[in-house]
Amino acid sequence: MLFKSLTTLATGAAFFAGVATAGDVPAIEVVGNKFFYSNNGSQFYMRGVAYQADTVNQTSGSTINDPLADYDSCSRDIPYLKKLDTNVIRVYAINTSLDHSQCLKALNDADIYVIADLSAPDTSINRDEPKWTVNLFNSYKSVVDAFANYTNVLGFFAGNEVTNNYTNTDASAFVKAAIRDVRQYISDKDYRKIPVGYSSNDDEKTRVELADYFACGDDDVKADFYGINMYEWCGKSDFKTSGYADRTAEFKNLSIPVFFSEYGCNEVRPRLFTEVEALYGSNMTDVWSGGIVYMYFEKPISTV
Ligand SMILES: *[C@@H]1O[C@H](CO)[C@@H](O)[C@H](O)[C@H]1NC(C)=O
Ligand SMILES: *[C@@H]1O[C@H](CO)[C@@H](O)[C@H](O)[C@H]1NC(C)=O
Ligand SMILES: *[C@@H]1O[C@H](CO)[C@@H](O)[C@H](O)[C@H]1NC(C)=O
Ligand SMILES: *[C@@H]1O[C@H](CO)[C@@H](O)[C@H](O)[C@H]1NC(C)=O
Ligand SMILES: *[C@@H]1O[C@H](CO)[C@@H](O)[C@H](O)[C@H]1NC(C)=O
Ligand SMILES: *[C@@H]1O[C@H](CO)[C@@H](O)[C@H](O)[C@H]1NC(C)=O
Ligand SMILES: *[C@@H]1O[C@H](CO)[C@@H](O)[C@H](O)[C@H]1NC(C)=O
Repeated sequence: MLFKSLTTLATGAAFFAGVATAGDVPAIEVVGNKFFYSNNGSQFYMRGVAYQADTVNQTSGSTINDPLADYDSCSRDIPYLKKLDTNVIRVYAINTSLDHSQCLKALNDADIYVIADLSAPDTSINRDEPKWTVNLFNSYKSVVDAFANYTNVLGFFAGNEVTNNYTNTDASAFVKAAIRDVRQYISDKDYRKIPVGYSSNDDEKTRVELADYFACGDDDVKADFYGINMYEWCGKSDFKTSGYADRTAEFKNLSIPVFFSEYGCNEVRPRLFTEVEALYGSNMTDVWSGGIVYMYFEKPISTV
Protein backbone atom coordinates (compact mmCIF):
# COMPACT_ATOMS: atom_id res chain seq x y z
CA MET A 1 0.00 0.00 0.00
CA LEU A 2 2.77 2.38 0.95
CA PHE A 3 4.58 1.56 -2.28
CA LYS A 4 1.44 2.25 -4.23
CA SER A 5 0.88 5.68 -2.76
CA LEU A 6 4.50 6.65 -3.32
CA THR A 7 4.34 5.73 -6.98
CA THR A 8 1.12 7.68 -7.24
CA LEU A 9 2.82 10.75 -5.89
CA ALA A 10 5.70 10.27 -8.25
CA THR A 11 3.81 9.74 -11.47
CA GLY A 12 0.24 10.85 -11.01
CA ALA A 13 -3.01 9.02 -10.51
CA ALA A 14 -3.26 7.71 -14.07
CA PHE A 15 -0.35 5.41 -13.29
CA PHE A 16 -2.54 2.68 -11.81
CA ALA A 17 -2.77 -0.44 -13.91
CA GLY A 18 -6.20 -0.82 -15.42
CA VAL A 19 -7.40 2.69 -14.74
CA ALA A 20 -9.34 3.82 -17.75
CA THR A 21 -8.25 6.96 -19.49
CA ALA A 22 -10.30 8.95 -21.97
CA GLY A 23 -10.91 6.81 -25.01
CA ASP A 24 -10.80 3.50 -23.18
CA VAL A 25 -13.98 1.47 -23.47
CA PRO A 26 -15.76 0.85 -20.16
CA ALA A 27 -14.83 -2.44 -18.47
CA ILE A 28 -17.40 -5.24 -18.48
CA GLU A 29 -18.52 -6.62 -15.12
CA VAL A 30 -20.38 -9.70 -14.00
CA VAL A 31 -23.42 -9.15 -11.78
CA GLY A 32 -25.51 -12.25 -11.04
CA ASN A 33 -25.75 -14.25 -14.24
CA LYS A 34 -25.26 -11.46 -16.77
CA PHE A 35 -22.53 -9.15 -18.08
CA PHE A 36 -22.88 -5.37 -17.76
CA TYR A 37 -21.10 -2.23 -18.90
CA SER A 38 -19.48 -0.73 -15.82
CA ASN A 39 -20.15 2.86 -16.91
CA ASN A 40 -23.93 2.74 -17.13
CA GLY A 41 -25.22 -0.70 -16.11
CA SER A 42 -26.53 -1.64 -19.57
CA GLN A 43 -26.39 -5.36 -20.22
CA PHE A 44 -23.53 -6.54 -22.42
CA TYR A 45 -24.65 -9.20 -24.89
CA MET A 46 -21.82 -10.89 -26.78
CA ARG A 47 -21.73 -10.60 -30.54
CA GLY A 48 -18.51 -12.54 -30.74
CA VAL A 49 -16.17 -13.95 -33.34
CA ALA A 50 -13.39 -16.47 -32.64
CA TYR A 51 -10.20 -15.04 -34.03
CA GLN A 52 -7.09 -17.17 -34.35
CA ALA A 53 -5.83 -18.47 -37.67
CA ASP A 54 -3.77 -21.37 -36.42
CA THR A 55 -1.98 -22.13 -33.24
CA VAL A 56 0.97 -23.69 -35.00
CA ASN A 57 3.09 -22.04 -37.65
CA GLN A 58 4.94 -24.89 -39.37
CA THR A 59 7.23 -22.47 -41.20
CA SER A 60 8.56 -20.55 -38.24
CA GLY A 61 8.35 -23.49 -35.86
CA SER A 62 6.76 -21.33 -33.18
CA THR A 63 3.88 -23.12 -31.53
CA ILE A 64 1.81 -19.97 -31.18
CA ASN A 65 0.69 -17.94 -34.13
CA ASP A 66 -0.36 -14.94 -32.11
CA PRO A 67 -3.40 -13.09 -33.53
CA LEU A 68 -2.81 -9.93 -31.51
CA ALA A 69 0.91 -9.51 -32.09
CA ASP A 70 0.68 -8.74 -35.79
CA TYR A 71 -0.73 -5.28 -36.34
CA ASP A 72 -0.85 -5.67 -40.13
CA SER A 73 -3.28 -8.58 -39.79
CA CYS A 74 -5.44 -7.26 -36.95
CA SER A 75 -5.78 -3.82 -38.52
CA ARG A 76 -6.69 -5.48 -41.82
CA ASP A 77 -9.45 -7.51 -40.11
CA ILE A 78 -10.98 -5.03 -37.66
CA PRO A 79 -13.04 -3.24 -40.35
CA TYR A 80 -14.59 -6.60 -41.36
CA LEU A 81 -15.32 -7.43 -37.74
CA LYS A 82 -16.98 -4.04 -37.38
CA LYS A 83 -19.12 -4.71 -40.44
CA LEU A 84 -20.46 -7.76 -38.61
CA ASP A 85 -21.19 -5.57 -35.58
CA THR A 86 -18.73 -7.63 -33.54
CA ASN A 87 -18.26 -6.53 -29.94
CA VAL A 88 -15.94 -9.29 -28.72
CA ILE A 89 -13.32 -11.62 -30.17
CA ARG A 90 -11.96 -14.79 -28.63
CA VAL A 91 -8.25 -15.50 -28.94
CA TYR A 92 -6.95 -18.95 -28.06
CA ALA A 93 -3.25 -18.60 -27.49
CA ILE A 94 -0.92 -15.67 -27.21
CA ASN A 95 2.84 -15.46 -27.02
CA THR A 96 3.50 -13.35 -23.95
CA SER A 97 6.97 -12.38 -25.11
CA LEU A 98 5.44 -10.37 -27.97
CA ASP A 99 3.85 -6.92 -27.85
CA HIS A 100 0.06 -6.72 -28.10
CA SER A 101 -0.46 -3.04 -27.45
CA GLN A 102 -1.17 -1.94 -31.02
CA CYS A 103 -3.83 -4.56 -31.72
CA LEU A 104 -5.45 -4.16 -28.30
CA LYS A 105 -5.58 -0.40 -28.78
CA ALA A 106 -7.02 -0.73 -32.29
CA LEU A 107 -9.68 -3.13 -31.00
CA ASN A 108 -10.45 -0.73 -28.15
CA ASP A 109 -10.87 2.09 -30.63
CA ALA A 110 -13.33 -0.10 -32.55
CA ASP A 111 -15.29 -0.91 -29.32
CA ILE A 112 -14.26 -4.55 -29.55
CA TYR A 113 -13.52 -6.53 -26.38
CA VAL A 114 -11.23 -9.54 -26.06
CA ILE A 115 -11.79 -12.77 -24.19
CA ALA A 116 -8.57 -14.75 -24.01
CA ASP A 117 -7.67 -18.32 -23.18
CA LEU A 118 -4.91 -18.52 -20.59
CA SER A 119 -3.74 -21.87 -21.88
CA ALA A 120 -1.78 -22.55 -25.05
CA PRO A 121 -0.86 -25.73 -26.93
CA ASP A 122 2.15 -26.46 -24.71
CA THR A 123 0.71 -25.01 -21.54
CA SER A 124 -2.67 -26.42 -20.60
CA ILE A 125 -4.23 -28.86 -18.17
CA ASN A 126 -4.03 -32.33 -19.70
CA ARG A 127 -7.32 -34.18 -19.23
CA ASP A 128 -5.60 -37.57 -19.20
CA GLU A 129 -3.08 -36.63 -16.56
CA PRO A 130 -4.52 -33.55 -14.89
CA LYS A 131 -2.21 -31.38 -12.80
CA TRP A 132 -2.15 -27.75 -11.74
CA THR A 133 1.51 -26.85 -11.40
CA VAL A 134 3.59 -23.80 -10.55
CA ASN A 135 4.91 -23.73 -14.13
CA LEU A 136 1.43 -23.73 -15.57
CA PHE A 137 0.29 -21.08 -13.11
CA ASN A 138 3.28 -18.93 -14.13
CA SER A 139 2.36 -19.16 -17.78
CA TYR A 140 -1.28 -18.26 -16.99
CA LYS A 141 -0.02 -15.31 -14.92
CA SER A 142 2.07 -14.08 -17.83
CA VAL A 143 -1.05 -13.87 -20.02
CA VAL A 144 -2.90 -12.01 -17.27
CA ASP A 145 0.04 -9.60 -16.90
CA ALA A 146 0.11 -8.96 -20.65
CA PHE A 147 -3.60 -8.10 -20.84
CA ALA A 148 -4.59 -6.70 -17.46
CA ASN A 149 -3.98 -3.07 -18.35
CA TYR A 150 -6.60 -2.98 -21.08
CA THR A 151 -10.20 -2.19 -20.21
CA ASN A 152 -11.36 -3.99 -23.36
CA VAL A 153 -10.20 -7.31 -21.97
CA LEU A 154 -13.54 -8.84 -20.99
CA GLY A 155 -12.26 -12.00 -19.35
CA PHE A 156 -10.08 -15.08 -19.34
CA PHE A 157 -10.79 -18.76 -19.92
CA ALA A 158 -8.81 -20.91 -17.48
CA GLY A 159 -9.46 -23.96 -19.66
CA ASN A 160 -11.10 -25.11 -22.88
CA GLU A 161 -12.82 -28.52 -23.11
CA VAL A 162 -10.51 -30.01 -20.50
CA THR A 163 -13.11 -32.55 -19.39
CA ASN A 164 -14.64 -33.88 -22.59
CA ASN A 165 -16.69 -36.84 -21.35
CA TYR A 166 -17.68 -38.69 -18.17
CA THR A 167 -14.38 -40.57 -17.95
CA ASN A 168 -12.30 -37.48 -17.21
CA THR A 169 -14.49 -35.26 -15.05
CA ASP A 170 -11.74 -35.36 -12.38
CA ALA A 171 -9.70 -32.98 -14.55
CA SER A 172 -12.21 -30.19 -13.91
CA ALA A 173 -11.12 -29.93 -10.28
CA PHE A 174 -7.73 -28.73 -11.55
CA VAL A 175 -9.36 -26.16 -13.80
CA LYS A 176 -11.37 -24.89 -10.87
CA ALA A 177 -8.14 -24.58 -8.87
CA ALA A 178 -6.71 -22.56 -11.76
CA ILE A 179 -9.72 -20.23 -11.73
CA ARG A 180 -9.37 -19.72 -7.98
CA ASP A 181 -5.64 -18.98 -8.15
CA VAL A 182 -5.80 -16.70 -11.18
CA ARG A 183 -8.55 -14.66 -9.58
CA GLN A 184 -6.49 -14.38 -6.38
CA TYR A 185 -3.48 -13.32 -8.45
CA ILE A 186 -5.51 -10.59 -10.17
CA SER A 187 -6.56 -9.33 -6.77
CA ASP A 188 -3.03 -9.55 -5.28
CA LYS A 189 -1.67 -7.49 -8.18
CA ASP A 190 -4.38 -4.86 -7.72
CA TYR A 191 -5.51 -5.38 -11.27
CA ARG A 192 -9.06 -4.62 -12.32
CA LYS A 193 -11.47 -7.41 -11.32
CA ILE A 194 -11.27 -9.23 -14.66
CA PRO A 195 -13.68 -12.20 -14.82
CA VAL A 196 -12.18 -15.71 -15.05
CA GLY A 197 -14.25 -18.59 -16.38
CA TYR A 198 -14.29 -21.81 -18.35
CA SER A 199 -15.18 -22.97 -21.85
CA SER A 200 -16.79 -26.42 -22.00
CA ASN A 201 -17.62 -28.91 -24.71
CA ASP A 202 -21.23 -30.00 -25.20
CA ASP A 203 -21.19 -33.62 -24.07
CA GLU A 204 -24.72 -34.77 -23.30
CA LYS A 205 -23.77 -36.81 -20.25
CA THR A 206 -21.75 -34.08 -18.53
CA ARG A 207 -22.79 -30.62 -19.76
CA VAL A 208 -25.34 -29.77 -17.05
CA GLU A 209 -23.42 -31.24 -14.11
CA LEU A 210 -20.19 -29.55 -15.25
CA ALA A 211 -21.89 -26.19 -15.46
CA ASP A 212 -23.30 -26.66 -11.97
CA TYR A 213 -19.88 -27.71 -10.71
CA PHE A 214 -18.16 -24.61 -12.12
CA ALA A 215 -20.93 -22.31 -10.88
CA CYS A 216 -21.05 -23.64 -7.33
CA GLY A 217 -19.19 -22.49 -4.24
CA ASP A 218 -18.24 -19.17 -2.71
CA ASP A 219 -17.14 -16.20 -4.78
CA ASP A 220 -13.47 -17.07 -4.36
CA VAL A 221 -13.77 -20.56 -5.85
CA LYS A 222 -16.56 -20.54 -8.43
CA ALA A 223 -16.13 -19.61 -12.08
CA ASP A 224 -17.16 -16.07 -13.01
CA PHE A 225 -18.81 -17.27 -16.23
CA TYR A 226 -19.43 -20.42 -18.23
CA GLY A 227 -19.04 -20.88 -21.97
CA ILE A 228 -20.25 -23.88 -23.92
CA ASN A 229 -18.88 -24.75 -27.36
CA MET A 230 -22.06 -25.43 -29.27
CA TYR A 231 -22.20 -27.25 -32.61
CA GLU A 232 -25.76 -28.58 -32.51
CA TRP A 233 -27.40 -26.38 -35.15
CA CYS A 234 -26.33 -27.47 -38.64
CA GLY A 235 -27.73 -26.03 -41.85
CA LYS A 236 -31.41 -25.18 -41.92
CA SER A 237 -32.58 -26.16 -38.47
CA ASP A 238 -34.78 -24.47 -35.90
CA PHE A 239 -34.92 -23.65 -32.22
CA LYS A 240 -36.47 -26.99 -31.22
CA THR A 241 -34.93 -29.47 -33.69
CA SER A 242 -31.44 -28.13 -33.20
CA GLY A 243 -31.41 -28.81 -29.46
CA TYR A 244 -31.14 -25.09 -28.62
CA ALA A 245 -34.56 -25.18 -26.90
CA ASP A 246 -33.52 -28.04 -24.61
CA ARG A 247 -30.17 -26.45 -23.82
CA THR A 248 -31.90 -23.16 -23.01
CA ALA A 249 -34.23 -24.94 -20.57
CA GLU A 250 -31.29 -26.76 -18.95
CA PHE A 251 -29.14 -23.68 -18.44
CA LYS A 252 -31.98 -21.40 -17.43
CA ASN A 253 -31.13 -21.33 -13.74
CA LEU A 254 -27.36 -21.15 -13.90
CA SER A 255 -26.23 -18.56 -11.37
CA ILE A 256 -23.31 -17.24 -13.49
CA PRO A 257 -23.38 -15.84 -17.05
CA VAL A 258 -23.58 -18.52 -19.73
CA PHE A 259 -22.91 -18.09 -23.45
CA PHE A 260 -21.78 -19.99 -26.52
CA SER A 261 -17.99 -19.76 -26.29
CA GLU A 262 -17.97 -21.17 -29.84
CA TYR A 263 -20.91 -21.91 -32.12
CA GLY A 264 -21.55 -22.92 -35.67
CA CYS A 265 -21.36 -25.98 -37.85
CA ASN A 266 -19.92 -26.28 -41.31
CA GLU A 267 -21.07 -29.80 -42.11
CA VAL A 268 -23.86 -28.43 -44.30
CA ARG A 269 -22.72 -26.13 -47.14
CA PRO A 270 -23.29 -23.36 -47.76
CA ARG A 271 -23.27 -22.34 -44.12
CA LEU A 272 -26.51 -20.46 -43.55
CA PHE A 273 -26.01 -18.96 -40.07
CA THR A 274 -29.74 -19.34 -39.36
CA GLU A 275 -28.90 -19.99 -35.71
CA VAL A 276 -27.91 -16.35 -35.31
CA GLU A 277 -31.55 -15.24 -35.40
CA ALA A 278 -32.42 -17.73 -32.65
CA LEU A 279 -29.48 -16.82 -30.42
CA TYR A 280 -30.30 -13.12 -30.59
CA GLY A 281 -34.07 -13.60 -30.35
CA SER A 282 -36.33 -13.56 -27.33
CA ASN A 283 -36.32 -17.38 -26.96
CA MET A 284 -32.75 -17.20 -25.79
CA THR A 285 -31.73 -13.76 -24.61
CA ASP A 286 -33.08 -14.17 -21.08
CA VAL A 287 -30.80 -17.13 -20.48
CA TRP A 288 -27.73 -16.70 -22.66
CA SER A 289 -25.34 -13.78 -22.93
CA GLY A 290 -24.81 -14.24 -26.66
CA GLY A 291 -22.07 -16.18 -28.32
CA ILE A 292 -18.85 -16.33 -30.25
CA VAL A 293 -19.21 -17.61 -33.78
CA TYR A 294 -16.60 -20.12 -34.87
CA MET A 295 -14.71 -18.60 -36.61
CA TYR A 296 -13.13 -15.78 -38.55
CA PHE A 297 -10.72 -18.11 -40.35
CA GLU A 298 -11.82 -21.26 -42.17
CA LYS A 299 -10.78 -24.33 -40.26
CA PRO A 300 -12.15 -27.54 -38.77
CA ILE A 301 -13.83 -27.63 -35.36
CA SER A 302 -11.48 -26.53 -32.60
CA THR A 303 -9.28 -29.12 -31.00
CA VAL A 304 -7.17 -26.60 -29.08
C1 LIG B 1 -23.82 2.14 -22.02
O1 LIG B 1 -22.48 2.28 -22.45
C2 LIG B 1 -22.16 1.48 -23.57
C3 LIG B 1 -20.67 1.64 -23.84
O2 LIG B 1 -20.32 2.98 -24.01
C4 LIG B 1 -23.00 1.87 -24.75
O3 LIG B 1 -22.72 1.03 -25.87
C5 LIG B 1 -24.47 1.72 -24.38
O4 LIG B 1 -25.28 2.16 -25.44
C6 LIG B 1 -24.76 2.54 -23.13
N1 LIG B 1 -26.14 2.29 -22.71
C7 LIG B 1 -27.02 3.28 -22.61
C8 LIG B 1 -28.41 2.88 -22.19
O5 LIG B 1 -26.74 4.43 -22.86
C1 LIG C 1 4.66 -18.27 -40.27
O1 LIG C 1 6.02 -17.96 -40.09
C2 LIG C 1 6.64 -17.45 -41.25
C3 LIG C 1 8.13 -17.32 -40.98
O2 LIG C 1 8.34 -16.62 -39.77
C4 LIG C 1 6.00 -16.11 -41.63
O3 LIG C 1 6.58 -15.60 -42.80
C5 LIG C 1 4.50 -16.36 -41.87
O4 LIG C 1 3.86 -15.13 -42.12
C6 LIG C 1 3.86 -17.03 -40.68
N1 LIG C 1 2.49 -17.42 -41.03
C7 LIG C 1 1.43 -16.91 -40.44
C8 LIG C 1 0.10 -17.42 -40.92
O5 LIG C 1 1.53 -16.08 -39.56
C1 LIG D 1 7.27 -16.45 -28.93
O1 LIG D 1 7.91 -15.46 -29.68
C2 LIG D 1 9.34 -15.55 -29.60
C3 LIG D 1 9.88 -14.33 -30.30
O2 LIG D 1 9.43 -14.28 -31.63
C4 LIG D 1 9.76 -16.87 -30.24
O3 LIG D 1 11.15 -16.99 -30.14
C5 LIG D 1 9.10 -18.03 -29.51
O4 LIG D 1 9.38 -19.25 -30.16
C6 LIG D 1 7.60 -17.84 -29.46
N1 LIG D 1 7.03 -18.83 -28.57
C7 LIG D 1 6.07 -19.66 -28.93
C8 LIG D 1 5.61 -20.60 -27.87
O5 LIG D 1 5.54 -19.64 -30.02
C1 LIG E 1 0.60 -1.65 -17.22
O1 LIG E 1 0.59 -0.34 -16.71
C2 LIG E 1 1.61 -0.10 -15.74
C3 LIG E 1 1.40 1.30 -15.22
O2 LIG E 1 1.26 2.20 -16.27
C4 LIG E 1 2.97 -0.27 -16.38
O3 LIG E 1 3.97 -0.12 -15.41
C5 LIG E 1 3.08 -1.67 -16.96
O4 LIG E 1 4.29 -1.83 -17.66
C6 LIG E 1 1.93 -1.93 -17.91
N1 LIG E 1 2.00 -3.31 -18.34
C7 LIG E 1 1.81 -3.68 -19.59
C8 LIG E 1 1.91 -5.16 -19.86
O5 LIG E 1 1.56 -2.90 -20.48
C1 LIG F 1 -13.36 -39.74 -23.42
O1 LIG F 1 -12.35 -38.88 -23.91
C2 LIG F 1 -11.08 -39.50 -23.99
C3 LIG F 1 -10.06 -38.41 -24.33
O2 LIG F 1 -10.42 -37.71 -25.47
C4 LIG F 1 -11.15 -40.60 -25.03
O3 LIG F 1 -9.90 -41.24 -25.13
C5 LIG F 1 -12.19 -41.61 -24.59
O4 LIG F 1 -12.36 -42.57 -25.62
C6 LIG F 1 -13.53 -40.93 -24.35
N1 LIG F 1 -14.43 -41.89 -23.75
C7 LIG F 1 -15.72 -41.94 -24.05
C8 LIG F 1 -16.52 -42.96 -23.30
O5 LIG F 1 -16.25 -41.20 -24.87
C1 LIG G 1 -35.27 -23.60 -12.42
O1 LIG G 1 -35.81 -23.02 -11.26
C2 LIG G 1 -37.25 -23.13 -11.21
C3 LIG G 1 -37.72 -22.32 -10.00
O2 LIG G 1 -36.99 -22.68 -8.86
C4 LIG G 1 -37.62 -24.62 -11.13
O3 LIG G 1 -39.03 -24.75 -11.10
C5 LIG G 1 -37.06 -25.33 -12.35
O4 LIG G 1 -37.28 -26.72 -12.25
C6 LIG G 1 -35.57 -25.09 -12.49
N1 LIG G 1 -35.12 -25.62 -13.77
C7 LIG G 1 -33.99 -26.33 -13.92
C8 LIG G 1 -33.68 -26.81 -15.30
O5 LIG G 1 -33.26 -26.59 -12.99
C1 LIG H 1 -38.85 -19.32 -30.78
O1 LIG H 1 -39.46 -20.53 -30.36
C2 LIG H 1 -40.68 -20.85 -31.06
C3 LIG H 1 -41.23 -22.11 -30.40
O2 LIG H 1 -40.33 -23.18 -30.52
C4 LIG H 1 -40.34 -21.05 -32.52
O3 LIG H 1 -41.55 -21.30 -33.24
C5 LIG H 1 -39.68 -19.80 -33.08
O4 LIG H 1 -39.29 -20.01 -34.41
C6 LIG H 1 -38.46 -19.47 -32.25
N1 LIG H 1 -37.88 -18.20 -32.72
C7 LIG H 1 -36.65 -18.14 -33.26
C8 LIG H 1 -36.22 -16.78 -33.70
O5 LIG H 1 -35.93 -19.11 -33.38
